[in-house]
Amino acid sequence: MTTTTTRTPFRGRTGTAHTRVEGREKVTGAARYAGEIPFADLAHGWLVLSTVAHGRIRSIETEPVLAMPGVLAVLHHENAPRVNTDYVGMLGKPDPTLAVFQDDRVPHLGWPVALVVAETSEQAREAAEALVVHYDQEPHDIDFSPARTDTVPGEGYVPATTEKGDLEAELAASAFVVDAEYTTPEEHHSMMEPHAATARWDGGRLELVDSNQGAFWVVGELANLFSLDPASVRVVSEHVGGGFGSKGVRVHQVAAVMAATELQRPVRVVMTRRQMFYLTGYRSPTVQRVRLGADADGRLRALEHHSLSLTSPVHDFVESSTMPSRVMYDADAHHTAHRLVRLNVPTPTYMRAPGEAPGSFALECAIDELAEKAGLDPIELRLRNEPERGPVSGLPFGSRNLAACFREGARRFGWADRDPRPGVRREGRWLLGTGTAAGSFAAGAGPSTATVTAEADGTFTVRIGAADIGTGARTALTLIAADALEVPPERIRTHIGDSDFGPAMLAGGSRGTRSWGWAVQTAAAELRERLALGTDIPPEGITVRSDTTAAVGALAGKERHSYGAQFAEVAVDVATGEVRVRRMLGIFAAGTIVNPLTARSQLIGGMTWGISMALHEEAVRDKASGGLYGPDLAGYHVATHADVPFVEADWVDDHDPDDPIGIKGIGEVGIVGTAAAIANAVWHATGVRHRHLPIRPDRVLQAAAEVPHA
Ligand code: MOS
Repeated sequence: MTTTTTRTPFRGRTGTAHTRVEGREKVTGAARYAGEIPFADLAHGWLVLSTVAHGRIRSIETEPVLAMPGVLAVLHHENAPRVNTDYVGMLGKPDPTLAVFQDDRVPHLGWPVALVVAETSEQAREAAEALVVHYDQEPHDIDFSPARTDTVPGEGYVPATTEKGDLEAELAASAFVVDAEYTTPEEHHSMMEPHAATARWDGGRLELVDSNQGAFWVVGELANLFSLDPASVRVVSEHVGGGFGSKGVRVHQVAAVMAATELQRPVRVVMTRRQMFYLTGYRSPTVQRVRLGADADGRLRALEHHSLSLTSPVHDFVESSTMPSRVMYDADAHHTAHRLVRLNVPTPTYMRAPGEAPGSFALECAIDELAEKAGLDPIELRLRNEPERGPVSGLPFGSRNLAACFREGARRFGWADRDPRPGVRREGRWLLGTGTAAGSFAAGAGPSTATVTAEADGTFTVRIGAADIGTGARTALTLIAADALEVPPERIRTHIGDSDFGPAMLAGGSRGTRSWGWAVQTAAAELRERLALGTDIPPEGITVRSDTTAAVGALAGKERHSYGAQFAEVAVDVATGEVRVRRMLGIFAAGTIVNPLTARSQLIGGMTWGISMALHEEAVRDKASGGLYGPDLAGYHVATHADVPFVEADWVDDHDPDDPIGIKGIGEVGIVGTAAAIANAVWHATGVRHRHLPIRPDRVLQAAAEVPHA
């Protein structure tokens, strides 16, 4: 006997382009950001930063400032609430960078020394700028150099060193050797929306309206700092104008909580762009040495990657730049090491593709140099060195489709016709070249909880403590819920950015949408099964809650990464030193792509940042003061429209076999390898290797003067 179904066949939404569900709110200005949400009886705090790079606060002249119009309080190390810094935070170790106003020590220029609170933002700013602070200054040291003898092993969230095989022996036995030093400068996140937080006590609960990458994460850190029950803290962060790693817990949230506690009224602290350059973390500069040795056929015998980065005297943050070497290529002798030097500078932090972005510049340029020496096409060299297992972990790969990325990228970019010789293509005043590089970023998932409610009116409500930092996460989660419920996305409302929705992964490590998607899919699928039994929906709806803590454990035991093949074409004017990127193509193997529209935008955003990293971005410190030159978006150059040509991003078929949706993550892989592809293209255009970022006009001119071929 045959059966027929009358149900309309379901068409899955995952993999189908969908505009942002909050797009209309955002473009009409109806979406409110943390600094513009109205509060009754709101007071405003303004941070005062130290003007010396090392020393102690001798005294603070608070009296004249307290007499200024509207001023309510000046919080500083002698009167601010004490905080607990003796805890192990969510990321594994205590970070006293948040312990502001606790003592008189000044570890670097830009350290917060006071918060001035007033009735209006203007009054607070006026008073903060008038506050006189006396210091006992001590000599400072901001000299970042590979010649330092006081470096320490860089133990961060990954081990400082990995080592197998006899490096010197394998180098000696190699037919081709590359030994080169690469440097990358201090770089800043520069997201559009400045950091802003408003704290208030409401019926015995602390509430924070904020802009962050994980409301539940911020709850945990604030509860630890102020010795509160996490259940008595609520953090709400509905719309976030970019984060890139810098929107965790920063001093403005801590200062706002302190002031709200002291004054017993709502207090808002917003950072200026200049303050952000000192208070919100940044990417450490790096000095990296890469040594590669290969057989005549290009197979790697030796790989060594050492990286030095800096940190503050307050907290050890390590820029894990050798991560790409630990994942991408194996060798008989394989050595990697991170070292750290502590200087009188602010604490660096996670910044989009932490480790991988600067590390891939060094490694992927060195691979290009090896290809040149070995007389091999750089893609062919990479394909010959595709590892069977994780080079350091020894684990099998979940799925590794880097080769497919290169094959598809080479086809679409027109790589086959490329003349490998450098410095031979001219078009008027421009020398032309093309370059390529590989990229990867670790894929994983963190435990999350979600609820999905079937409402009596036939709609559905999803609640999860996710953060949409501009990625399109809210939309992706709506599509995932739609598929699991087998209903159109228009029938779903997705609420995010509220810690009261329960524990959830933060928007970081390229793991947000995957972690939350897993929880939403689990709850929605269970709800659909329940509804399929024909249950009547009561007025309060039917709610299913999921918790993926046990499920995500299934990801252990394999190396999991997203991959990318980056291609760039550049034009270089050696008379002016100008480098123009003409076109870029990135082909990615990054798991199931939930929403191609926002995914493409995110990957192109990463590649655009790579252009910026290759050619523009560089924060420069003044040795005398210990401060930054031009710490704003006039002095700190980021790529803008005229710098960004035709950038294309696409992907090959790829799925994580152990993820219910097949997702891997796309937040960071877009930037990885981009700067190397551009630097390799500049070599192909000019015949000159640029091993120091950014590739500024003066560096191009200097190189042209030294190598007079052009
Ligand atoms: Mo990121 S640098 O994991 O926000």
